[in-house]
Amino acid sequence: MSFVIFVVRWDVRSGDSLLSPFRLMPFPTRFTVGTMKVLITGAAGLVGSHLARRLSNEHEVLALKRGDLDITDRDAVRRRVIEMTPGLIINCAVLQVDESEQNLAKAQAVNVDGPRYLAEAASEVGAEIVQFSTQYAFAGEPLKRAPYTVKDELNPVNVYGRTKVSGEAAVREACARSYIVRTSWVYGSGKKSFLCVVHNDLRTGKKVRAIDDIWSSTTYVADLIDRVMTIRATGQYGTYHVVNDGVCSYYEFAREAGRVLGLTGAQLDALIEITHERDMKRIAARPRYTPLRCLLSEQLGLPPMRDWRAALAAYVRG
Ligand SMILES: NC(=O)c1ccc[n+]([C@@H]2O[C@H](COP(=O)([O-])OP(=O)(O)OC[C@H]3O[C@@H](n4cnc5c(N)ncnc54)[C@H](OP(=O)(O)O)[C@@H]3O)[C@@H](O)[C@H]2O)c1
Repeated sequence: MSFVIFVVRWDVRSGDSLLSPFRLMPFPTRFTVGTMKVLITGAAGLVGSHLARRLSNEHEVLALKRGDLDITDRDAVRRRVIEMTPGLIINCAVLQVDESEQNLAKAQAVNVDGPRYLAEAASEVGAEIVQFSTQYAFAGEPLKRAPYTVKDELNPVNVYGRTKVSGEAAVREACARSYIVRTSWVYGSGKKSFLCVVHNDLRTGKKVRAIDDIWSSTTYVADLIDRVMTIRATGQYGTYHVVNDGVCSYYEFAREAGRVLGLTGAQLDALIEITHERDMKRIAARPRYTPLRCLLSEQLGLPPMRDWRAALAAYVRG
Protein backbone atom coordinates (compact mmCIF):
# COMPACT_ATOMS: atom_id res chain seq x y z
CA MET A 1 0.00 0.00 0.00
CA SER A 2 1.26 3.47 -0.69
CA PHE A 3 -0.21 6.91 -0.28
CA VAL A 4 0.72 10.48 -0.88
CA ILE A 5 0.76 13.43 1.51
CA PHE A 6 0.55 16.80 -0.19
CA VAL A 7 2.76 19.48 1.26
CA VAL A 8 0.86 22.62 2.17
CA ARG A 9 3.90 24.89 2.41
CA TRP A 10 7.16 24.41 0.59
CA ASP A 11 9.32 27.30 1.66
CA VAL A 12 12.40 27.41 -0.50
CA ARG A 13 14.10 30.69 -1.19
CA SER A 14 14.54 30.97 -4.92
CA GLY A 15 17.96 31.72 -6.26
CA ASP A 16 19.79 30.37 -3.21
CA SER A 17 22.44 28.00 -4.41
CA LEU A 18 22.75 25.97 -1.20
CA LEU A 19 21.36 22.88 -2.81
CA SER A 20 23.50 23.13 -5.89
CA PRO A 21 26.63 21.43 -4.48
CA PHE A 22 24.43 18.44 -3.77
CA ARG A 23 23.05 16.48 -6.64
CA LEU A 24 20.07 18.70 -7.06
CA MET A 25 16.83 17.00 -7.89
CA PRO A 26 13.72 18.92 -8.92
CA PHE A 27 11.97 20.25 -5.82
CA PRO A 28 9.37 17.71 -4.80
CA THR A 29 5.85 19.02 -4.69
CA ARG A 30 4.68 16.11 -2.59
CA PHE A 31 6.05 13.52 -0.25
CA THR A 32 5.63 9.92 -1.31
CA VAL A 33 5.31 7.51 1.58
CA GLY A 34 4.87 3.80 1.12
CA THR A 35 6.13 0.42 2.12
CA MET A 36 9.65 -0.31 0.94
CA LYS A 37 12.44 -2.76 1.49
CA VAL A 38 15.02 -1.39 3.92
CA LEU A 39 18.38 -2.94 4.66
CA ILE A 40 19.99 -1.83 7.92
CA THR A 41 23.62 -2.60 8.75
CA GLY A 42 25.17 -2.34 12.20
CA ALA A 43 21.71 -3.21 13.48
CA ALA A 44 22.80 -4.23 17.00
CA GLY A 45 23.99 -0.70 17.81
CA LEU A 46 22.08 2.19 19.33
CA VAL A 47 20.81 3.80 16.14
CA GLY A 48 20.52 0.56 14.17
CA SER A 49 18.45 -1.27 16.77
CA HIS A 50 16.01 1.61 17.20
CA LEU A 51 15.71 2.05 13.45
CA ALA A 52 15.03 -1.63 12.93
CA ARG A 53 12.27 -1.61 15.54
CA ARG A 54 10.66 1.57 14.31
CA LEU A 55 10.77 0.91 10.58
CA SER A 56 9.60 -2.68 10.79
CA ASN A 57 6.11 -1.40 11.67
CA GLU A 58 5.64 -0.06 8.17
CA HIS A 59 8.42 -1.44 5.99
CA GLU A 60 10.00 -4.73 5.07
CA VAL A 61 13.18 -4.52 7.11
CA LEU A 62 16.29 -6.66 6.94
CA ALA A 63 18.29 -5.72 10.04
CA LEU A 64 21.80 -7.13 9.87
CA LYS A 65 24.14 -7.24 12.84
CA ARG A 66 27.89 -7.53 12.38
CA GLY A 67 27.64 -11.32 12.62
CA ASP A 68 25.10 -11.31 9.76
CA LEU A 69 27.01 -8.93 7.51
CA ASP A 70 30.49 -7.54 7.99
CA ILE A 71 30.39 -4.38 5.89
CA THR A 72 34.13 -4.58 5.25
CA ASP A 73 33.55 -7.73 3.17
CA ARG A 74 32.91 -6.29 -0.28
CA ASP A 75 31.61 -9.48 -1.88
CA ALA A 76 29.29 -10.26 0.99
CA VAL A 77 27.91 -6.72 0.90
CA ARG A 78 27.23 -6.91 -2.82
CA ARG A 79 25.66 -10.38 -2.51
CA ARG A 80 23.31 -9.34 0.31
CA VAL A 81 22.23 -6.16 -1.45
CA ILE A 82 21.58 -7.87 -4.78
CA GLU A 83 19.71 -10.66 -2.99
CA MET A 84 17.36 -8.24 -1.23
CA THR A 85 17.27 -5.36 -3.78
CA PRO A 86 16.27 -2.85 -1.11
CA GLY A 87 14.87 0.58 -1.93
CA LEU A 88 16.85 2.03 0.97
CA ILE A 89 20.07 1.07 2.73
CA ILE A 90 20.81 2.61 6.12
CA ASN A 91 24.34 2.13 7.35
CA CYS A 92 24.64 2.27 11.13
CA ALA A 93 27.88 0.30 11.42
CA VAL A 94 30.80 2.20 12.88
CA LEU A 95 34.08 1.75 14.67
CA GLN A 96 33.87 3.98 17.72
CA VAL A 97 36.14 6.84 18.74
CA ASP A 98 38.83 5.32 20.95
CA GLU A 99 38.96 2.05 19.04
CA SER A 100 39.52 4.00 15.82
CA GLU A 101 42.43 5.83 17.40
CA GLN A 102 44.01 2.51 18.37
CA ASN A 103 43.46 0.75 15.08
CA LEU A 104 43.74 2.95 12.03
CA ALA A 105 43.44 0.08 9.53
CA LYS A 106 40.22 -1.14 11.12
CA ALA A 107 38.85 2.41 11.28
CA GLN A 108 39.56 2.81 7.57
CA ALA A 109 37.88 -0.51 6.82
CA VAL A 110 34.71 0.05 8.89
CA ASN A 111 34.26 3.82 8.56
CA VAL A 112 35.41 4.33 4.96
CA ASP A 113 35.65 1.12 2.91
CA GLY A 114 32.47 -0.50 4.24
CA PRO A 115 30.32 2.57 3.55
CA ARG A 116 31.81 2.73 0.05
CA TYR A 117 30.93 -0.93 -0.64
CA LEU A 118 27.38 -0.33 0.54
CA ALA A 119 27.07 2.80 -1.59
CA GLU A 120 28.43 0.98 -4.65
CA ALA A 121 25.94 -1.82 -4.13
CA ALA A 122 23.13 0.71 -3.59
CA SER A 123 24.03 2.31 -6.89
CA GLU A 124 24.04 -1.05 -8.63
CA VAL A 125 20.48 -1.91 -7.55
CA GLY A 126 19.12 1.67 -7.72
CA ALA A 127 18.70 2.04 -3.96
CA GLU A 128 19.09 5.14 -1.85
CA ILE A 129 21.55 5.13 1.03
CA VAL A 130 21.67 6.89 4.39
CA GLN A 131 25.16 7.20 5.83
CA PHE A 132 25.46 8.52 9.38
CA SER A 133 28.30 10.81 10.22
CA THR A 134 29.32 12.96 13.13
CA GLN A 135 29.95 16.37 14.64
CA TYR A 136 33.52 15.13 15.06
CA ALA A 137 33.97 16.21 11.44
CA PHE A 138 34.72 19.63 12.97
CA ALA A 139 37.57 20.95 15.10
CA GLY A 140 35.37 22.31 17.90
CA GLU A 141 37.21 25.61 18.36
CA PRO A 142 36.76 28.34 19.37
CA LEU A 143 34.34 27.88 22.24
CA LYS A 144 30.95 29.62 21.89
CA ARG A 145 31.31 29.86 18.11
CA ALA A 146 28.21 29.71 15.92
CA PRO A 147 26.84 26.20 15.33
CA TYR A 148 28.62 24.35 12.53
CA THR A 149 26.93 24.18 9.14
CA VAL A 150 27.81 22.29 5.96
CA LYS A 151 29.63 25.42 4.82
CA ASP A 152 32.18 25.17 7.63
CA GLU A 153 35.62 23.69 7.18
CA LEU A 154 35.99 20.01 8.01
CA ASN A 155 38.88 19.66 10.40
CA PRO A 156 38.61 16.54 12.58
CA VAL A 157 40.89 16.20 15.58
CA ASN A 158 40.98 12.40 15.75
CA VAL A 159 41.08 9.26 13.60
CA TYR A 160 37.36 8.59 14.07
CA GLY A 161 36.50 12.06 12.73
CA ARG A 162 38.92 11.79 9.83
CA THR A 163 37.68 8.38 8.77
CA LYS A 164 34.02 9.41 9.12
CA VAL A 165 34.67 12.41 6.85
CA SER A 166 36.37 10.11 4.31
CA GLY A 167 33.43 7.73 4.63
CA GLU A 168 31.03 10.55 3.75
CA ALA A 169 33.06 11.35 0.63
CA ALA A 170 33.23 7.70 -0.38
CA VAL A 171 29.44 7.36 -0.15
CA ARG A 172 28.76 10.58 -2.08
CA GLU A 173 31.14 9.48 -4.80
CA ALA A 174 29.76 5.95 -5.15
CA CYS A 175 26.03 6.72 -4.94
CA ALA A 176 24.25 9.78 -6.30
CA ARG A 177 21.19 8.93 -4.23
CA SER A 178 22.79 9.44 -0.85
CA TYR A 179 21.81 11.22 2.34
CA ILE A 180 24.73 12.02 4.63
CA VAL A 181 23.35 12.58 8.12
CA ARG A 182 25.74 14.13 10.61
CA THR A 183 24.44 13.80 14.11
CA SER A 184 25.81 14.33 17.59
CA TRP A 185 25.69 12.82 21.09
CA VAL A 186 22.88 10.40 20.34
CA TYR A 187 21.05 8.79 23.27
CA GLY A 188 18.21 6.33 23.79
CA SER A 189 17.51 3.05 25.51
CA GLY A 190 19.70 0.00 25.12
CA LYS A 191 23.23 1.43 25.31
CA LYS A 192 25.39 1.97 28.36
CA SER A 193 26.87 5.34 27.41
CA PHE A 194 26.77 8.28 29.84
CA LEU A 195 23.99 10.08 27.96
CA CYS A 196 21.88 6.92 27.74
CA VAL A 197 22.04 5.91 31.40
CA VAL A 198 22.74 8.97 33.53
CA HIS A 199 19.05 9.52 34.36
CA ASN A 200 18.72 5.96 35.64
CA ASP A 201 21.84 6.34 37.77
CA LEU A 202 20.48 9.52 39.31
CA ARG A 203 17.06 7.96 39.83
CA THR A 204 18.61 5.18 41.89
CA GLY A 205 20.80 7.57 43.89
CA LYS A 206 24.04 6.50 42.23
CA LYS A 207 26.79 9.12 42.06
CA VAL A 208 28.00 10.11 38.59
CA ARG A 209 30.92 12.08 37.19
CA ALA A 210 30.06 14.53 34.41
CA ILE A 211 32.40 16.47 32.12
CA ASP A 212 31.69 20.19 32.14
CA ASP A 213 34.14 21.48 29.53
CA ILE A 214 32.89 19.87 26.29
CA TRP A 215 29.69 21.06 24.63
CA SER A 216 27.68 19.81 21.69
CA SER A 217 24.22 19.27 20.30
CA THR A 218 22.43 16.23 21.67
CA THR A 219 20.07 13.96 19.74
CA TYR A 220 17.30 11.74 21.05
CA VAL A 221 17.37 8.67 18.86
CA ALA A 222 13.59 8.73 18.33
CA ASP A 223 13.82 12.30 16.98
CA LEU A 224 16.78 11.35 14.80
CA ILE A 225 14.81 8.55 13.17
CA ASP A 226 11.73 10.73 12.62
CA ARG A 227 13.81 13.40 10.93
CA VAL A 228 15.79 10.95 8.80
CA MET A 229 12.58 9.47 7.46
CA THR A 230 11.17 12.95 6.79
CA ILE A 231 14.32 13.86 4.92
CA ARG A 232 14.17 10.67 2.89
CA ALA A 233 10.59 11.40 1.94
CA THR A 234 11.67 14.74 0.44
CA GLY A 235 14.00 12.98 -1.98
CA GLN A 236 16.58 15.76 -1.57
CA TYR A 237 19.98 14.13 -1.47
CA GLY A 238 22.76 15.95 0.34
CA THR A 239 24.41 16.50 3.69
CA TYR A 240 22.25 17.14 6.72
CA HIS A 241 22.92 18.02 10.35
CA VAL A 242 20.28 16.25 12.43
CA VAL A 243 20.28 17.17 16.12
CA ASN A 244 17.94 18.54 18.78
CA ASP A 245 17.99 22.30 19.12
CA GLY A 246 20.42 23.90 21.56
CA VAL A 247 23.75 23.04 23.11
CA CYS A 248 24.90 21.64 26.45
CA SER A 249 27.79 19.98 28.25
CA TYR A 250 27.59 16.48 29.70
CA TYR A 251 27.25 18.14 33.09
CA GLU A 252 24.33 20.31 31.99
CA PHE A 253 22.71 17.24 30.41
CA ALA A 254 22.98 15.31 33.68
CA ARG A 255 21.57 18.21 35.73
CA GLU A 256 18.65 18.56 33.36
CA ALA A 257 17.93 14.82 33.52
CA GLY A 258 17.91 15.08 37.33
CA ARG A 259 15.67 18.15 37.24
CA VAL A 260 13.15 16.24 35.10
CA LEU A 261 13.22 13.46 37.70
CA GLY A 262 12.27 16.02 40.36
CA LEU A 263 15.58 16.01 42.21
CA THR A 264 16.44 19.21 44.09
CA GLY A 265 19.51 21.33 43.40
CA ALA A 266 21.09 20.09 46.63
CA GLN A 267 20.45 16.46 45.69
CA LEU A 268 22.01 17.04 42.28
CA ASP A 269 25.04 18.76 43.84
CA ALA A 270 25.54 15.67 45.98
CA LEU A 271 25.05 13.16 43.17
CA ILE A 272 26.89 14.79 40.25
CA GLU A 273 30.62 15.31 40.54
CA ILE A 274 32.09 17.67 37.97
CA THR A 275 35.04 16.40 36.00
CA HIS A 276 37.08 17.78 33.10
CA GLU A 277 37.95 16.30 29.75
CA ARG A 278 41.69 16.50 30.49
CA ASP A 279 41.19 14.36 33.60
CA MET A 280 39.46 11.58 31.63
CA LYS A 281 42.74 10.48 29.99
CA ARG A 282 40.86 9.17 27.00
CA ILE A 283 42.66 7.56 24.10
CA ALA A 284 41.40 9.93 21.39
CA ALA A 285 41.12 13.71 21.64
CA ARG A 286 37.59 15.13 21.57
CA PRO A 287 36.59 18.40 19.93
CA ARG A 288 35.38 20.83 22.58
CA TYR A 289 32.51 22.78 21.07
CA THR A 290 30.51 21.23 18.24
CA PRO A 291 26.86 22.29 18.09
CA LEU A 292 25.33 21.75 14.65
CA ARG A 293 22.88 23.65 12.47
CA CYS A 294 21.23 22.25 9.32
CA LEU A 295 21.13 24.69 6.42
CA LEU A 296 19.62 22.17 4.05
CA SER A 297 16.69 21.43 6.39
CA GLU A 298 16.11 25.16 6.73
CA GLN A 299 16.13 25.53 2.98
CA LEU A 300 13.62 22.70 2.67
CA GLY A 301 11.34 24.42 5.19
CA LEU A 302 11.76 21.73 7.85
CA PRO A 303 11.36 23.23 11.34
CA PRO A 304 14.19 22.94 13.88
CA MET A 305 13.95 19.78 15.94
CA ARG A 306 12.61 20.23 19.47
CA ASP A 307 14.85 21.72 22.12
CA TRP A 308 17.28 19.28 23.77
CA ARG A 309 15.57 19.71 27.12
CA ALA A 310 12.16 18.71 25.73
CA ALA A 311 13.68 15.69 23.99
CA LEU A 312 15.52 14.64 27.14
CA ALA A 313 12.33 15.00 29.20
CA ALA A 314 10.50 12.73 26.74
CA TYR A 315 13.26 10.13 27.09
CA VAL A 316 13.47 10.31 30.90
CA ARG A 317 9.69 10.10 31.32
CA GLY A 318 9.74 7.28 28.80
N1 LIG B 1 26.03 7.52 19.23
C1 LIG B 1 26.43 8.77 19.02
O1 LIG B 1 26.54 9.57 19.97
C2 LIG B 1 26.75 9.24 17.63
C3 LIG B 1 27.15 10.57 17.46
C4 LIG B 1 27.45 11.01 16.18
C5 LIG B 1 27.33 10.16 15.10
N2 LIG B 1 26.95 8.87 15.29
C6 LIG B 1 26.89 7.99 14.13
O2 LIG B 1 25.71 7.23 14.15
C7 LIG B 1 25.96 5.95 13.57
C8 LIG B 1 25.46 4.85 14.50
O3 LIG B 1 26.15 4.98 15.72
P1 LIG B 1 25.73 4.14 17.02
O4 LIG B 1 25.84 5.05 18.18
O5 LIG B 1 24.47 3.41 16.78
O6 LIG B 1 26.93 3.12 17.09
P2 LIG B 1 27.06 1.78 17.99
O7 LIG B 1 26.01 1.75 19.03
O8 LIG B 1 28.49 1.72 18.41
O9 LIG B 1 26.75 0.63 16.94
C9 LIG B 1 27.60 0.41 15.88
C10 LIG B 1 27.38 -1.00 15.41
O10 LIG B 1 28.25 -1.22 14.28
C11 LIG B 1 28.63 -2.58 14.34
N3 LIG B 1 29.83 -2.82 13.54
C12 LIG B 1 31.12 -2.55 13.83
N4 LIG B 1 31.91 -2.98 12.84
C13 LIG B 1 31.12 -3.53 11.89
C14 LIG B 1 31.34 -4.17 10.66
N5 LIG B 1 32.57 -4.31 10.17
N6 LIG B 1 30.27 -4.64 9.96
C15 LIG B 1 29.02 -4.51 10.45
N7 LIG B 1 28.74 -3.94 11.62
C16 LIG B 1 29.78 -3.45 12.34
C17 LIG B 1 28.86 -2.83 15.81
O11 LIG B 1 28.80 -4.22 16.04
P3 LIG B 1 29.59 -4.87 17.29
O12 LIG B 1 28.96 -4.25 18.51
O13 LIG B 1 29.33 -6.31 17.12
O14 LIG B 1 31.00 -4.46 17.13
C18 LIG B 1 27.71 -2.07 16.44
O15 LIG B 1 26.59 -2.89 16.65
C19 LIG B 1 27.45 5.89 13.28
O16 LIG B 1 27.69 6.21 11.94
C20 LIG B 1 28.03 7.00 14.16
O17 LIG B 1 29.21 7.55 13.61
C21 LIG B 1 26.65 8.38 16.54
